[in-house]
Formats: sequence, structure tokens, C-alpha cells
Amino acid sequence: MADLISILNKNDIEKMVADVAQKISDDYKNSELVLIGVLKGAFVFMADLIRKITIPVKIDFVGISSYGSNTVSSGKINLTKNIEINIKNKDVLIVEDIVDTGLTLKYLINYLKSFDPKSVKICTLLDKYERRETQIEVAYPCHRIEKGFIVGYGIDFAEDYRNLPAIYHLKQM
Ligand code: IMP
Ligand code: MG
Repeated sequence: MADLISILNKNDIEKMVADVAQKISDDYKNSELVLIGVLKGAFVFMADLIRKITIPVKIDFVGISSYGSNTVSSGKINLTKNIEINIKNKDVLIVEDIVDTGLTLKYLINYLKSFDPKSVKICTLLDKYERRETQIEVAYPCHRIEKGFIVGYGIDFAEDYRNLPAIYHLKQM
């Protein structure tokens, strides 16, 4: 059995997404911006975010898996989908659901830098900082939490709960 404790409701999320989209639109107004969403967890956030961004933007996705069906990161990272558009000399913004240890993003930044983008920065819905293992600069964190396992709004536990419209803390009982 598992218990779901609400941490961010639909209104909270809408406001967070609008705020970060505004910042991104201001900061990148003179650049060629490419948003790269990290599948699968970031797909809902990405869909809402791009519709609040007011400057021209291209999008792509990468597939990354590391957790398997466990709540503890395996630390082993697999690239399950490559980028498909050319990011050479473009300003890249990675769109992630959660930064936890930071290992996924460290891997992803190295992968993306191999295509010679002009810049690579990170936007994450949740910055979960207690278990950070590698120093990662998160330019656009929407919300910071210390710890806990999160589901909803695209984020899963063993592929469940992605469809929940709000964000919950999953308590295993
Ligand atoms: P990291 O490599 O430890 O930073 O892990 C990041 C990835 O693990 C994220 O892309 C998430 O998909 C997943 N993840 C981290 N914390 C959680 C969580 O609380 N719930 C669900 N997935 C999580
Ligand atoms: Mg993920």
C-alpha cells in the first residue's frame, strides 16, 4: 500500500510554470533556443512550459532511464533516445522533472556538449537537493525540496501515477 500526500496543487504548478516561462522568455529573447525534455518524466512539464514561453523555440527530447522500478537511483544511466535536431551553436535548455543526485544531468550535459551547442543550461520542475552527489548548476529550478519520493504531473513510480494532475509525496507503507 502507498499513501499520497499532496505537495503542489494544480494552481501552484500553473504559477510556477508561468513564472519560469517568463524568466526564460526574457533571458533568451535574442537567441536560438532549443528546449530538450528528458523522457519520460518531463513530458507534462515540457508541454505546459512551451505554451507559456513567448519567444520562438524549438523542442526535442532525449530518453534516459536510471531508476528501473525502484525508488532509489540505480546510478546506472542508459540513453534510450538520442536528440534528432541540430543543436550546434544553439542555446540549449534541458527540461527535467527532478534533479536528485545530479548524475543523470551530468551525463546528459556531457552528451549534449558533444554536439557543440552555444550553451547548455538546466530547467527543472523539482530540485531535490539532499542526495546531490555531483555539483550541478541549475539555472531555473521551479521548486526546491529536501527529500522524499515524488509522483504525479508526469513523474512516476514504476510507471504508475504519471497521469495525476498534481504533485505528491509517495509514502510507502
Ligand atoms: P538523478 O540522476 O539522481 O539526479 O536522478 C534524476 C532522475 O531520477 C530524474 O530524471 C527522475 O526521473 C528520477 N527521480 C529522481 N527523484 C525522483 C522521485 O522522487 N520520483 C520519481 N522519479 C525520480
Ligand atoms: Mg527523469
